[in-house]
Amino acid sequence: MASFKKILTQWRNVGLLAGVILGLLLLMFFTYPERNRLVAKGPMNAGHEGVGCEQCHVPLDGTAAQQVSANVYRWLGLRERSMGFGSKDVDSGDCLACHERPDDRHPISRFLEPRFAEARQNIKAYDCVTCHTEHQGKRVTLSTMGYCSNCHEDTELKDDPILPTHADIIRSQSWNTCLQCHDFHGNHKMTTPTRLEDGVSEEEVWRYFDGGPSPYSSEKFAEPSETRGDRP
Ligand code: HEC
Ligand code: HEC
Ligand code: HEC
Ligand code: HEC
Ligand code: HEC
Repeated sequence: MASFKKILTQWRNVGLLAGVILGLLLLMFFTYPERNRLVAKGPMNAGHEGVGCEQCHVPLDGTAAQQVSANVYRWLGLRERSMGFGSKDVDSGDCLACHERPDDRHPISRFLEPRFAEARQNIKAYDCVTCHTEHQGKRVTLSTMGYCSNCHEDTELKDDPILPTHADIIRSQSWNTCLQCHDFHGNHKMTTPTRLEDGVSEEEVWRYFDGGPSPYSSEKFAEPSETRGDRP
């Protein structure tokens, strides 16, 4: 009887010890500041294969304790977004640190203007990741190529060089044709075709979105920097 009791206490001690060890492991797991870095979310997008994690996931100021409490708040639903373990949320500023170009045809900062309030309800064109969600193994992650409709309903050209004209195309809601003749950012060295037959096919646009080669031109006006903040 006595020895049975002894075994029981021993087992209880083992259980206690296991509990303590498990608790410590969990604590380490959830407080380890670099936890994000250990798990990539998916394949890097086109061109980003060689870009280091910390170039976008900028290390966060603040103690590990602050980070842990921020994440506890998030679990409790009191904070909308994770503070990220060890790194801040990636935003468009991080993209611009390498990609900023003064002659971008559609600079995101423009779309905060009041006149785009309605467009903003349909497409957050002021945010790079709206169209370039990272870790998808793609280049453009939009599921539509006709989103020009949000801002170009009134586009009309005097002496329009194309036939059917822009006004005709827009009247017939053929929004998928826009990217067959124009790129979006205007960074490709190309002559804009005046006939749709001379443009890019829809399939080629989709292939480009998915990570294939650029159908517009292999030459660009500007390349991004390899490391953030390196721009001349
Ligand atoms: C080109 C920029 C970029 C690079 C490089 C990058 N990421 Fe990300 N990563 C992002 C963006 C953007 C998100 C989405 C964040 C959001 O939705 O707020 C993200 C999300 C994540 C997430 C999900 C957690 C979260 O905060 O949403 C993990 C985990 C992650 N990245 C790990 C990595 C790892 C590991 C590497 C290196 C192999 C890496 N990332 C490289 C841009 C990048
Ligand atoms: C550290 C610098 C750096 C940061 C930060 C960065 N990029 Fe890049 N990006 C590059 C480089 C370098 C390439 C490859 C350029 C090439 O292949 O010619 C690239 C390629 C791309 C491409 C494909 C370009 C092409 O012509 O195929 C897109 C789209 C892109 N980045 C968007 C983003 C977005 C969106 C973010 C923010 C979430 C971001 N980048 C953050 C450096 C960066
Ligand atoms: C409303 C959607 C949208 C937004 C917002 C957007 N892009 Fe793009 N981006 C595209 C589309 C569509 C293409 C493919 C057509 C082209 O090459 O211009 C593209 C192509 C690119 C390319 C490859 C061609 C080039 O210009 O060198 C890069 C790099 C790029 N985007 C970076 C960015 C960055 C950085 C941001 C934020 C500052 C951003 N984009 C915001 C839709 C968008
Ligand atoms: C969020 C609003 C918005 C979206 C979406 C948008 N554009 Fe634009 N686009 C503009 C603005 C603003 C201008 C600048 C002209 C102006 O001030 O009216 C412009 C200018 C242009 C120009 C002329 C650039 C120049 O050099 O004069 C072209 C071409 C163009 N857009 C094509 C497109 C195509 C193609 C799409 C869809 C793939 C698209 N846009 C989507 C707002 C937008
Ligand atoms: C058949 C080819 C073709 C198609 C399709 C096309 N465009 Fe154009 N677009 C042109 C040409 C050519 C010009 C004049 C030269 C230039 O600006 O590059 C032009 C000019 C423009 C301009 C500049 C206007 C200005 O005042 O300078 C805008 C904006 C524009 N297009 C938007 C669009 C939109 C939005 C669509 C889709 C509804 C579209 N384009 C479809 C060929 C095309």
